Amino acid sequence: MKILHSLCDTRHFVNEIKKKGLSMGLVPTMGALHEGHLSLVRESKRQCDVTIVSIFVNPTQFGPKEDFKAYPRTMDEDSILLKKEGVDAIFSPSSDDMYPQDGLAATQVFVPELSTLYCGVSRPHFFNGVCMLVSRLFHCIPADKAFFGEKDFQQLTIIKKMVRDLLIPIHIVGCPLIREKNGLAMSSRNRYLSGPEFDEASRLYLALSEARQSFYNGETSSHILTTRIRSLLIRNGYINMDYCVLVNPVTLQEEAVARKGARLLVAGWIGKTRLIDTLML
Ligand code: PAF
Repeated sequence: MKILHSLCDTRHFVNEIKKKGLSMGLVPTMGALHEGHLSLVRESKRQCDVTIVSIFVNPTQFGPKEDFKAYPRTMDEDSILLKKEGVDAIFSPSSDDMYPQDGLAATQVFVPELSTLYCGVSRPHFFNGVCMLVSRLFHCIPADKAFFGEKDFQQLTIIKKMVRDLLIPIHIVGCPLIREKNGLAMSSRNRYLSGPEFDEASRLYLALSEARQSFYNGETSSHILTTRIRSLLIRNGYINMDYCVLVNPVTLQEEAVARKGARLLVAGWIGKTRLIDTLML
């Protein structure tokens, strides 16, 4: 497994793959890898000849009061896991390489009408930072396919739209969310949770599952379904809610009437840890 740091080495590596006519899958990550990431790697290996995983804790997607400095950096453990999975290369660039013009001077990429909804309200910088980074990654590594988890469903939808709008010839593959045994969606930030918080956090999935069950029992009011989720979580003091909505999976606009295929999206805080989750009806 190659570890690529410089843009020059990366371009050379990528050109060699293209010359051989091999298909290339990219799995963008911020490291601190877990089974969720590994499921993306396995899907890329299933669909592509060569798999590259990028590991970069992207400063532009963190707000000034967020956990950029504290975000777990576990390169040694990540490399061992990726080697075991048979990954071909890790791309681990420096901030200077990704952002040669720092801060506000850098070219921005954003998807206005989708980036200001939901997570974009409490994290206004987040999706712009993700789009800045992912568009740069796609230029350094012109893969055939890139793999993202459905856990951050808004991020996945925004990236699909960015790629369409900017005519970037990469197929975006959304992969199913992977859960802990207690139902909590896997996330690198779960390691911030204490033991009791980890148990409480599983209520998020329980509340979503109950709402889905209500839908299949005949409840089609989106207002009633999302109110039930909120009250279950707030009543028991499990979580400080950020948002809870039922949306169209393509436009991300809220749906008044629940229908099969619509997406429940929730975000909230357990102590100091912000968690998101999603479930399809
Ligand atoms: O989902 C993530 O881990 C990050 O937002 C991503 C897509 C790797 C961009 O930094």
